Amino acid sequence: METKITVAGTGYVGLSLAVLLAGKYDVRAVDIVPGRVEKINRRQSPIADADIEEYLREKTLHLHATTDAEEGYREADFVIIAVPTNYDPEKNYFDTSAVEAVAKQVIGINPKAVLVIKSTIPVGYTAQLREKLSYRRIMFSPEFLREGHALHDNLYPSRIIVGVDEDSGEMREKAEQFAEILKDCALKDDTPVLLMGTREAESVKLFANSYLAMRVGFFNELDTYAETMEMNAREIIEGVCLEPRIGMQYNNPSFGYGGYCFPKDTKQLRANYGTLPQRLIGAIVETNGIRKEYIVRQVLKRIEKKESPVVGIYRLTMKANSDNFRQSAVQDIMAQLKDNGVRVVVYEPMLRDARTFEEYEVENVFDRFAGESDVIIANRFERALNAVKDKVYTRDLYQCD
Ligand SMILES: NC(=O)c1ccc[n+]([C@@H]2O[C@H](COP(=O)([O-])OP(=O)(O)OC[C@H]3O[C@@H](n4cnc5c(N)ncnc54)[C@H](O)[C@@H]3O)[C@@H](O)[C@H]2O)c1
Repeated sequence: METKITVAGTGYVGLSLAVLLAGKYDVRAVDIVPGRVEKINRRQSPIADADIEEYLREKTLHLHATTDAEEGYREADFVIIAVPTNYDPEKNYFDTSAVEAVAKQVIGINPKAVLVIKSTIPVGYTAQLREKLSYRRIMFSPEFLREGHALHDNLYPSRIIVGVDEDSGEMREKAEQFAEILKDCALKDDTPVLLMGTREAESVKLFANSYLAMRVGFFNELDTYAETMEMNAREIIEGVCLEPRIGMQYNNPSFGYGGYCFPKDTKQLRANYGTLPQRLIGAIVETNGIRKEYIVRQVLKRIEKKESPVVGIYRLTMKANSDNFRQSAVQDIMAQLKDNGVRVVVYEPMLRDARTFEEYEVENVFDRFAGESDVIIANRFERALNAVKDKVYTRDLYQCD
């Protein structure tokens, strides 16, 4: 309990860590959005995550959220930075300004704090920031959680990695201490702990996500081939994946990978390569665009004989139980359909009473939505669609039955 930890940013990463650590440590959470802070202090989760909701409701947590940076950072031994790093398409790099702003703020208030960056950052960023701010006490610990399972993934982590650039000395000790804190709060005893250089740790995060995105791209290309050649994609995938080195998991075709992390992390890794020789890393980014164009062509084929076709979009989310649709693949498909003169209508209960989403119509009465759609496209098939199965276009091979 003596160690004081502050988390900057209470999104998926920050809040799950704050809740994880607050069972055993004194934790403060800083955010710039008052509504999030108030909810957390009322022990309500601002994000959909069954474990976070349960822990906030039922566990004794030493957790206080605030929008006041002075109050949040003043006494912290460790400040975990979990703020957004969106991809900046103009610079072709992550926008790391929020990470830098928090780092400067903390150093101004508490020049002894150890900063642990959990946000995903470009390779080399931690070292550059240390240099720029003339502040040695910065390390990087990649975060591997999945949205919707954020606390679960930190309670049962696959690995704990801390990047630190000293082989000995105080910062190495701090890195070991931080890894021990995460391990201590996990419910799993045998979590591998790896200490490595900051650039290596930054690379682990980008390569791990790019590998997962590559796998999505691989099975999507397999599916494109099978569908075009009128073959059963599911049979091929099962036959391929029973090879133990390939494995049965994570092989269900989709409209493309999406979400907050894969699209930006793959682009960042490609940018980090610069002019170094590669084909595969760039292809991971490209294949996703190719897949979406393919899906659009498949949908257009289904409506080519209609005079004023309507395509219904069943859910903007990437998967069932998700509470957001940041960068979901279907949104690019909607834009391309619209460019082709198609009227697009969205069914997304998360939009509640909204009549529009961006420039698209929303119809959340399912029967009306289904009735006016000539084709309904669904990245993931849900039971509600059974009643209108003949209209549905999906490549979800495992939930159609
Ligand atoms: N979402 C994931 O699955 C996931 C997984 C691993 C890593 N990451 C990385 O972690 C980082 C955070 O992702 P997230 O999904 O938690 O983001 P998020 O958008 O859910 O949450 C970020 C939070 O930071 C707050 N914030 C912004 N600026 C701030 C500031 N100056 N001070 C305090 N709070 C501030 C925002 O209000 C928001 O509540 C990103 O770099 C992301 O790439 C995300």
